[in-house]
Amino acid sequence: MKKIKVLISEEKINNRLDELANQIMDEYKGKDIVFLCILKGSIFFTVELAKRIKNNIQFEFVEVSSYENNESTGKVKLNKDITQSIEGKEVIIIEDIVDTGRTLAFLKELLLEKKPASLKICSLLDKPSRRIANVKADYIGFAIEDKFVVGYGLDDEQNLRNLNYIGYIEE
Ligand code: IMP
Ligand code: MG
Repeated sequence: MKKIKVLISEEKINNRLDELANQIMDEYKGKDIVFLCILKGSIFFTVELAKRIKNNIQFEFVEVSSYENNESTGKVKLNKDITQSIEGKEVIIIEDIVDTGRTLAFLKELLLEKKPASLKICSLLDKPSRRIANVKADYIGFAIEDKFVVGYGLDDEQNLRNLNYIGYIEE
């Protein structure tokens, strides 16, 4: 059995989500928002953040893959595209973690072609030391060091997504 250590507790996540929600409500006063959730890692973050926001939110989902055996392959593949137009809409991409940044660089380019009124990025986690592509999230939950993390949506080969905290696997 792999041993999981707590990196960020549920309580800390909840407090930070309250802050992020307030910041987004401040900046999107009176506006409808589209939350563009990147499957599968961002589902927990998307739902928990959205529940704290009073604006009307529409949801869209994309699925991309770049990881095989917990290693970034460098090539990003779109497995599932959005189903409704985002033209003229205020879109926030909701991501679980920005690692090399390749996923978001790829998605940003793809989504800008669909002409949203605005396009921002909100990521629960950020690993700035791993960045290869030149992208920055507009809203970040926590910056973390270069550790492979699981829980709150993040997986270890599809497992451990449903932990209610963010942990790392002890070697
Ligand atoms: P990027 O394209 O390298 O920025 O990778 C982003 C994607 O890789 C994330 O959306 C995650 O699905 C996955 N990923 C990166 N780091 C981790 C990690 O520490 N744990 C689990 N998944 C990760
Ligand atoms: Mg992901």
